Parts: sequence; C-alpha cells; structure tokens
Amino acid sequence: MATIGIFDSGIGGLSVLREVRKLLPSEDYIYFSDNAYCPYGQKDPSLIIDRAREISDFLLFKGADVIVVACNTATGAAIATLRAEYSSPDERVEFISQGRRDHVKFVGMEPAIKPAAKLTRSGVVGVLATAGTLSAGKYNNTKESLPGSVTFVEHVGEGFVEQVESLDWTSDHARGVVEASLRPLLDKGADCIVLGCTHYPFLSGLIQDIAGPDVKVIDSAPAIAKQLLKVIKEEKIPYGEDGGGSGKVSLYASGDKGPLLKTFEFISGS
Ligand code: DGL
Repeated sequence: MATIGIFDSGIGGLSVLREVRKLLPSEDYIYFSDNAYCPYGQKDPSLIIDRAREISDFLLFKGADVIVVACNTATGAAIATLRAEYSSPDERVEFISQGRRDHVKFVGMEPAIKPAAKLTRSGVVGVLATAGTLSAGKYNNTKESLPGSVTFVEHVGEGFVEQVESLDWTSDHARGVVEASLRPLLDKGADCIVLGCTHYPFLSGLIQDIAGPDVKVIDSAPAIAKQLLKVIKEEKIPYGEDGGGSGKVSLYASGDKGPLLKTFEFISGS
C-alpha cells in the first residue's frame, strides 16, 4: 500500500482528500493542517516555503511515499522549491525519509481554468482564489497559454477561508460573505466559477445557490486525484488496485485539532 502525505493551511485540503480517497480507497493517508499559520493567502511566499519544507519533512518522517500539496496558495509559492530540493538523493532527504525513497514526488493544485475555458458559453470565466494564488507566476502562465477569446475575471474570496475554518458554511452570515466576492463575477457575465482554493468547495452549496443552476462551479480536486494516481503508477509505488477501502487516515494539526476532526467526520459521511 502507498502512504500519501497531504497538507494545507487548514481543513481546505480535506476537499482534496475526499476526492483522492474515492479513487484510492485502500491507501494510508497522513493529513497535516497548518492551521496555526492559517490563512496562507496573504502571507509572504518565503514563509509559505519554510512551512512547506517543515511539513514535507514531517510527512516523510511519518512514511509518506508521495506528497499532495492540497493548497493552491502553497503550490504557487512553494512547489517549484520543494521539487528542486527533494529531487536528489542528498543526505537530508535520505535521513528524513529513512532511506525509503531517494527522491519525492509532489502533486500540486492548479485552479481549473483550462477546463473552464472549454466549458464557458458566455466566454467569461470567473475565478475565486486567494491573493497569493492570483498573483503567482504559475496561475498567470497558465492563463496566458489559453485562447484570448476567453475573458477571466477574478476575485479574492474575501473571508472565505476564515468562514470555512469556523465551520459555518451555510448561515446567513456565510451567504453574505460569499455573495460579496461572487456577485462581481456574476455581474461581469461569468457562467463558470472556478474554485481556486481548496477551502472553497465547502462553500460550494452557497456558491451554486447564489449563482443559479445555469452557472457551473468547478473544483479541481477530482483532476488532482487522477494526477496523483498517474504519479503513483509512473513512480511504481505499490498501491491497492482492488479498491478494498481499508486504508487508514492519520490527522495532524499545528493548531487546534477540533475543526480538522469534525470536518473529517463530515467528509467521511458525505
Ligand atoms: N486552501 C488554500 C488554497 O488552496 C489556502 C487558503 C489560505 O490559507 O489562505 O489556496
């Protein structure tokens, strides 16, 4: 069985874990919520890189064979550094991974603007993400590679991460928070809304309700799950192909563990 490490600034990455476990139910998972440092959205990229290193070391020490950076902001800020630093069999990696692997693969998030560009009929795609993701080179390079006939309109999901971490995903207050950032995108004619932050799928009920049935709300987690499976196969990491579903999940947090435990229970029942 493979052991898969997953991290995020908080509980957002559980929206990714939920999809990954549908595809790979027999594996073991180690999830790390860095909620003592949450939100990452407006933090300096150098701090996010330091956190990503420390958490990756922890996940490897716990036996991870592969790491999913289940956070768009951390992917934008840190994945290039992680891939460079953990790619060679140097002493540091050997010590940390206890000789299990001489290099480590990282799977990252990417706002699903490519599929959205194909799906849109109005030619306007709305993107909700953190300030860090919207300013990252990775996101902007992908955007530039897409046809000029599609217009991307963007908005930071102001207060969304805090709303999700507080476990209030449905109240009138939550609706007000969501509407304030979503409405400007709808007013500009967006008929696809890309959720460019792994916390936002927990608000997708409200997002869909406000946007109406003609607007597609797109989460990249299912695509990331497929990408992870591809990497596991390429790397020849042994995994359970029978889909038996006996894998265990270990949960860790740098801050209060309560929201993580409650949300894990929620995703396990949904
Ligand atoms: N869940 C994260 C993301 O995908 C980080 C949100 C935050 O901490 O600001 O971007």
